[in-house]
Amino acid sequence: MREFKALINNELIDNGQWLEIIDPTTLQPAGRVTALSAQDIDNAYKAARASQKAWEEVELLKRMEYVKSFRNEIEKNKNEIAQIMSEEIAKGLKESLGEVERTIEIIDYTLEEAKRIDPLAMTGEGMGAKNKIGIFSRVAKGVILAISPFNYPINLAVAKIAPALVMGNTVVFKPATAGSLTGAFLGQLALNAKLPKGIFNVVTGRGREIGDIITSNKEIDMISFTGSVGIGNQIRKQGSSTDLVLELGGKDPALVLDDKNLEKYADEIIGGAFGYSGQRCTAIKRVLVSDEIADKLSPLLKARVEKLTVGKPSENANITPVIDLKSADFIQGLIDDAKEKGATILTGDKREQNLMWPTLIDNVTVDMKVAWEEPFGPVLPIIRINSVEEMIKIANESNFGLQASVFCQDISTAISVAKQIETGTVNINSKSQRGPDCFPFLGIKDSGEGVQGIREALLSMTRYKGLVINY
Ligand code: NAP
Ligand code: G3P
Repeated sequence: MREFKALINNELIDNGQWLEIIDPTTLQPAGRVTALSAQDIDNAYKAARASQKAWEEVELLKRMEYVKSFRNEIEKNKNEIAQIMSEEIAKGLKESLGEVERTIEIIDYTLEEAKRIDPLAMTGEGMGAKNKIGIFSRVAKGVILAISPFNYPINLAVAKIAPALVMGNTVVFKPATAGSLTGAFLGQLALNAKLPKGIFNVVTGRGREIGDIITSNKEIDMISFTGSVGIGNQIRKQGSSTDLVLELGGKDPALVLDDKNLEKYADEIIGGAFGYSGQRCTAIKRVLVSDEIADKLSPLLKARVEKLTVGKPSENANITPVIDLKSADFIQGLIDDAKEKGATILTGDKREQNLMWPTLIDNVTVDMKVAWEEPFGPVLPIIRINSVEEMIKIANESNFGLQASVFCQDISTAISVAKQIETGTVNINSKSQRGPDCFPFLGIKDSGEGVQGIREALLSMTRYKGLVINY
């Protein structure tokens, strides 16, 4: 059985306590990681604090070299990482490898962008301060806590770790339980890359047991968190003065405004709704469409859903088991509630434990839970609304505000509607998605605070340091 240890101060920790990681496909252990104690976690922060100033003093190009070595270790081991990931989160093997390769691209772009985080220089003349020049550089915030979700165990980890390190911060990284084998493996790769002692620490253990210990440590200067609204709000409530970037849940709507390219719309909607079995924050999680267009669109969606393969990650099935039985029960509950309230199941509504067939539900109404809650699974509700104004209203009534999609061939209409939708981003004529990773990525309302994306991550992990020259 795979066994990985936490990494603290460049030492692999074996404290005799273990956390078993269950393979969602077999529901058997995929491996185990160290289950850290409160003292272990405090030691990780002490190591990060002790090494931070010296690390910040290392010149940028040298820091970049270290992060590049880490990147090269990831590339060298990409197939092993993909295999581990696929076993622990039931992501298709090919898709897992794609996530690792996307992560390598993120590091490469991050390293390039880090060179362009230039100081801001300005004179005071505009405010009558004629003999002052201000130079405002970006400097490290200090010790950064990075917490990643289960569904992108390397991508949403390294998208925090790489910018943090290259800008001179040190990192305490908490992977999701489902994702900890991948996360702890990253710790071993960091050792192979010979990162300086203490700058990168991996703390493993179940969030509900050690989460509050991890997020309340006094050494934290910034928390970059990706995960659910519930946990994100718990972190907010900690009330510390720590800077926060929170990327949380979503209920991305797809507003279909015309029938001028329904085949393409259907491709985008199904790809957006059922990628990684719907376990994406940016998944399309509701379709808002008029009766007239729905009568033409629904059969196209149904045909595509029925073509999705269902099975094992090792066979690269489109739909693989959701992360655990609890999640499957929640998803099934949303389907059952919709059925009880009169919705039409066009296809799906079938499960074998946590393997859930992709489900398309028509005639969903706003009194049904699936109209508002985030299934984080292979379920897509169609809500029939016969006015664009009403569609916008329903879209905006959600407590989420991550992304949205507007499908319309008239670009002026599409832009006008997009401007009225209250989300971080609106995609015109494509599914909602975080990529390309150089774009800012943000959620508003319950979907988060702060901004991710490569340049934004570099900026969020630094602060201004001003130098005013009087002459
Ligand atoms: P989650 O249950 O909120 O867990 C996220 C991370 O927080 C995990 O590492 C988890 O560790 C940790 N955690 C749990 N309790 C904690 C606590 N008290 N204090 C600090 N950390 C704690 O979310 P998930 O199930 O991994 O991911 C699914 C959710 O994340 C969905 O809502 C999805 O929409 C959202 N998500 C958002 C984005 C985005 O970019 N906006 C991306 C991906 C996912 P354990 O696993 O050990 O509990
Ligand atoms: O849920 C992960 C979130 O970051 C979405 O990423 O690239 O699948 O849109 P992506």
